[in-house]
Amino acid sequence: MKRLVVLTGAGMSAESGISTFRDSGGLWDTYRVEDVATPEGWARDPQLVTEFYNIRRRELLNVRPCRGHELLAQLEQDYEVNIITQNVDNLHERAGSHHVLHLHGELMKVTSSRDPDNPRYIETLPPERPEVKLGDRAKDGSQLRPFIVWFGEAVPNIERATKLSAEADIYVIIGTSLNVYPAAGLIHYVPEGCPIYLIDPKPVQWNSIRSFTHIQKGASEGMKEFIEKLKIL
Ligand code: APR
Repeated sequence: MKRLVVLTGAGMSAESGISTFRDSGGLWDTYRVEDVATPEGWARDPQLVTEFYNIRRRELLNVRPCRGHELLAQLEQDYEVNIITQNVDNLHERAGSHHVLHLHGELMKVTSSRDPDNPRYIETLPPERPEVKLGDRAKDGSQLRPFIVWFGEAVPNIERATKLSAEADIYVIIGTSLNVYPAAGLIHYVPEGCPIYLIDPKPVQWNSIRSFTHIQKGASEGMKEFIEKLKIL
């Protein structure tokens, strides 16, 4: 089976009703990145950060995968599909995708604030109790923090993502402005001769000499067109 590698961003989940970050009206218009998505913000005001992620979790529990997520999951019938996602939601998994690598963490998980990447301290919150309060403790006794990779923190899964990208037969990028590194740099590892598709309704800043086919549509319509293109590839 051919290896299809997919890099997704916030635009993938936009049609499910989750706002993107950098479109107008996006999350970073309402919140300051440095307040809610950095270790410094957490140190300054853990209450604000905890509540920000509580709100994000409640929002996630109220939405469902979109047609684009579902079509991606169905491609597993004909391709070996690996999804590398910058999204912290679990919509790929809920749509039925089996191989999802999260670069920026996972919203439904929480961890130790002392040793965040230690698998022993990572817990999944049950949907019926998605909220965290200050004073809730991880197994090492430290305050629970979101299992989110904040700006300024290392991206532990980038090596696996690089390897997957380097082994792709077909590469498709969906709904990311390619503003955030190291994720945006993954295109540099895609083998020469591997076709690259980009599904995004807007033009995207493309910092590579590699050519790509832009399907200028939203995730669901774009996935339909991509599947048509796969048939004649
Ligand atoms: N379908 C597909 N793409 C869409 C749709 C849609 N319906 N709607 C918007 N988009 C596109 C936008 O045109 C834009 O190119 O999705 C992209 C979203 O870009 P960003 O908001 O910058 O999101 P993303 O690239 O995922 O951000 C990367 O930044 O703040 C951090 O950690 C956060 O993982 C996130 C990272």
